[in-house]
Amino acid sequence: MHGLSLVSTRKILSGYDIPMLGYGLYQVPVEVAEDVTVKALKAGYRHIDSAAVYRNERESVSAVEKAGLKRSDVFLTTKVSPRATGYEAAKESIRGSLEKAKTDYFDLILLHAPFGAKEGRLGAWRALVEAQKTGKARSIGVSNFGVHHLEELEEYIQSGGGGRIEVGQYELHPWLARADLVDWLHKRGAVVEAYSPLARGTRMNEPTIQAISKKHKKTPAQILIRWSLQKGFVPLPKSATPERIKENTDVFDFELDEHDMKLLHTEEYSPCAWDPTTQRD
Ligand SMILES: NC(=O)c1ccc[n+]([C@@H]2O[C@H](COP(=O)([O-])OP(=O)(O)OC[C@H]3O[C@@H](n4cnc5c(N)ncnc54)[C@H](OP(=O)(O)O)[C@@H]3O)[C@@H](O)[C@H]2O)c1
Repeated sequence: MHGLSLVSTRKILSGYDIPMLGYGLYQVPVEVAEDVTVKALKAGYRHIDSAAVYRNERESVSAVEKAGLKRSDVFLTTKVSPRATGYEAAKESIRGSLEKAKTDYFDLILLHAPFGAKEGRLGAWRALVEAQKTGKARSIGVSNFGVHHLEELEEYIQSGGGGRIEVGQYELHPWLARADLVDWLHKRGAVVEAYSPLARGTRMNEPTIQAISKKHKKTPAQILIRWSLQKGFVPLPKSATPERIKENTDVFDFELDEHDMKLLHTEEYSPCAWDPTTQRD
């Protein structure tokens, strides 16, 4: 992990590179989204995570030019609206995202959630595969799919459905480490992205975090981002606070040792966002 920086990348199965730290835009209001994204880009992020439902796709893209960068300098993600289940609705969601964002392509498009039962999920996947074939999505994947949803999708793909699960995005932090999902995806070579990697700031005062933070002279947020990187994830911390946007990038000059990683291991199941992976239908 030494010698890495904010612009270091990992290879996706599609052949494209993904910067190993991203900047998340959930709950960033539209009025400030462009401004904070410009700040993030100026702080060095080259990977921005938005979604149709965040209502800030336009700003995630317009910020690129405002920051003096080219579209191709930045890895941009969007997600098909969770309500857009089935082929037609997902296709329309993708079309709408491209139109709103005024871009010809997204670097990554994910299905946001495994809703719509089997038919809805597989229909939406078909629209995603089509978007990749036509260059509208460079890489594709899923978010919040449980192992049973992933297996259903894998079976569909293997029976000729098309596409590949190239990226999986999940809530991941020491209190929700999801070994089953992570193993499933890593075994197949998929990139695993960690959302809510700071557990939304709710665990910063835990004694373990405080102790490791003091030991490395790093903030609790930096410890959590580092944990995520060392687990092999692509963390997507969100902050609308300029100092924190910068703080969250300063994670490449130290390493958690085996003992720290052991201390950070918990068997907790404590989501702080929604958890559609448990959806049964
Ligand atoms: N696929 C999905 O279903 C899904 C679901 C949730 C999130 N996501 C993605 O993942 C991204 C991150 O997740 P998240 O926003 O839920 O949670 P998060 O990144 O774990 O936490 C964000 C919270 O932590 C605070 N924070 C940020 N940096 C901090 C620091 N250095 N010290 C202390 N507090 C800090 C932020 O406050 P301030 O903003 O006030 O600084 C905000 O309240 C989202 O923006 C989104 O892109 C995806």
